[in-house]
Amino acid sequence: MRDGLEIVVAADGSWGIGLHGTQTLVIPEDRRHFREVTGRGTVIVGRKTLADFPGGRPLKNRRNIVLTRDPALVIDGAETAHSVEEALEMCAGDEKVFVIGGESVYRAFLPYSRRAHVTRIFAKAENDDFFPDLSALPDWRLADPGEERESGGLRYAFQIWERC
Ligand SMILES: NC(=O)c1ccc[n+]([C@@H]2O[C@H](COP(=O)([O-])OP(=O)(O)OC[C@H]3O[C@@H](n4cnc5c(N)ncnc54)[C@H](OP(=O)(O)O)[C@@H]3O)[C@@H](O)[C@H]2O)c1
Repeated sequence: MRDGLEIVVAADGSWGIGLHGTQTLVIPEDRRHFREVTGRGTVIVGRKTLADFPGGRPLKNRRNIVLTRDPALVIDGAETAHSVEEALEMCAGDEKVFVIGGESVYRAFLPYSRRAHVTRIFAKAENDDFFPDLSALPDWRLADPGEERESGGLRYAFQIWERC
């Protein structure tokens, strides 16, 4: 486990996180929260999630490490890593490192993470991508349930989960 490695994810009531390569339930306040949490840190992101960003471009004001198995892939404004180990090595000296998806990348880095910022949306959408149900994992606990909020008819909370 790497001390500074944290996950940032928005998940619905079934831990669903996306459908057909894009996020299903989007809350504007969550976008702001995401920027605040990850601001000026390093983000680790899967190549498919990067493709879903506006313009397919890396995030501004953050070091972007994109996971891909393609050794020839070059991305303007980002570095590439070709394995979990390579990504971990690249960011070993960075103070704050955030794993920002998608599904395959969350699953690959969960064993190395100590905290998860989960925007929990108390609704159920159609999804084909899922985050692991942290409440079913014995080594994770809900450290802070956050306060319940509402946006555009959706109830949600900014939860903090931690490895125990
Ligand atoms: N709700 C949220 O907070 C949230 C956040 C982010 C994403 N999402 C959702 O997650 C879904 C995308 O997830 P996904 O699993 O399909 O795609 P992904 O994890 O974003 O990207 C998968 C790609 O990453 C690369 N990769 C993954 N593991 C690797 C490894 N161990 N070593 C080297 N490269 C690796 C491969 O790229 P190559 O194919 O180039 O080899 C793979 O095809 C979408 O629905 C998206 O909306 C939701």
